[in-house]
Amino acid sequence: MYRWRIVLTGIVVLAAALLVSRAIVQADDAPITAGVPAQEGPGATGAELLAYILNENPYTGWKSWRADRWNDYGGYLVGGSPHGATVRIFVNNVALEAVEAEDFDGILPYGSIIVKENYMGTPAEPGELAALTVMYKVEGFNPEGGDWFWLKAPGDGSAIDAEGAVEGCISCHAQEGNADYLLRYNFGEQPAVFYGEPLPEASGEALLDYVLNTSPYTEWGSWPANGVDDFSGFLAGNEPHGATVRIFVNDRALNAIARDNFEGVLPPGSIVVKENYMGTVDAPGELAALTIMYKVDGFNPEANDWFWLKAPGDGSAVDAAGAVEGCIACHGQQDNSDYLLRYDLPAGTMGVEEMMGEEETGSQPSGDDYLEGEDMGSSPTEPL
Ligand code: HEC
Ligand code: HEC
Repeated sequence: MYRWRIVLTGIVVLAAALLVSRAIVQADDAPITAGVPAQEGPGATGAELLAYILNENPYTGWKSWRADRWNDYGGYLVGGSPHGATVRIFVNNVALEAVEAEDFDGILPYGSIIVKENYMGTPAEPGELAALTVMYKVEGFNPEGGDWFWLKAPGDGSAIDAEGAVEGCISCHAQEGNADYLLRYNFGEQPAVFYGEPLPEASGEALLDYVLNTSPYTEWGSWPANGVDDFSGFLAGNEPHGATVRIFVNDRALNAIARDNFEGVLPPGSIVVKENYMGTVDAPGELAALTIMYKVDGFNPEANDWFWLKAPGDGSAVDAAGAVEGCIACHGQQDNSDYLLRYDLPAGTMGVEEMMGEEETGSQPSGDDYLEGEDMGSSPTEPL
């Protein structure tokens, strides 16, 4: 179903792209206004660029870089001086398509635009939009500075604070380890500037160390209750997992499913930890095993890039790790959401009302065959 959505979206985008390219071809006959470069996009002036990103092709409708091990660009991110404490990054299609292309050489093409929103608050409560900082690649504009045109404006776009080959912007953005003057995104590699703890490599030891020590999973949240399960405590589990389980989910995954534009597939960096117990929901006993799913960009595209891990409850060893055939075969059954069997990811808005709403809102998890045992089925387990 989600794949269909993606295919449909793709068709719509293609159709739109065809229309746009026709418009451009037709516009070729029109006289070229002075200052307008022979490329897609606005002229290299602050006023034209601002009008373009605010009105002609509003950046808020753009996408962002693809999530990777370091950042999930789909939402608010922790930023830093001299930019806002919280930022959001939007990228136009010219840049996005270039980076996705197989022959991409690490230099963004002319016409690429990157808009950064800068906020003074936190990612959870960003507050008012304080400033816009923009990079726009213009052919021949400033070859010594990667041909980037720089722009800074107040959040309401009412003025232009700085524009052009702004020395301050260039000198800082030219620092080592960057990618084409970008500091936050490095085409899937570690960015030149990174805030926070990087997610672990795709290795059993690294992942185990991360969930036990670096970011203890017991401090994470879990899926929102969905009318079928309340994920806040012990749940009746089933073969081959423990008779009782507890499920923990990291912020990367939880932030993603809360977004309006969520398409049903979790971003890289998502981690789901399941504790497996042999006892009952009321008396689970000792923690017997940990089974973990960790999404790593590029790790195993045929099976949605999940890295699988199984370890004893005390984390003293790695019993299985990697693209584990057994895990994939069972979790890859039809109609499930992104290889998850217990929680069905809804696409689209999932507001608090919807989560807390009627019993019917949660879709039935797809591990039905395994879930329809006597004590399980669709009757919600008692919240603890
Ligand atoms: C003292 C260093 C510094 C200066 C000066 C600076 N920046 Fe940045 N800029 C950063 C850092 C660090 C990041 C990445 C962190 C973030 O996203 O906040 C960044 C990120 C950005 C991004 C997002 C793209 C990316 O990944 O690099 C844009 C757009 C941007 N800056 C525009 C500007 C503009 C326009 C100016 C000048 C008005 C400017 N910057 C001046 C340090 C600087
Ligand atoms: C024979 C089928 C089967 C196999 C094999 C299997 N699982 Fe599962 N798994 C399930 C079912 C059914 C659920 C949901 C019910 C539950 O929570 O017990 C589940 C749930 C999970 C969850 C919670 C997220 C979710 O799917 O909702 C994780 C994490 C997980 N399994 C990890 C693993 C790992 C790691 C392996 C391999 C070492 C594995 N599983 C092998 C059937 C399987």
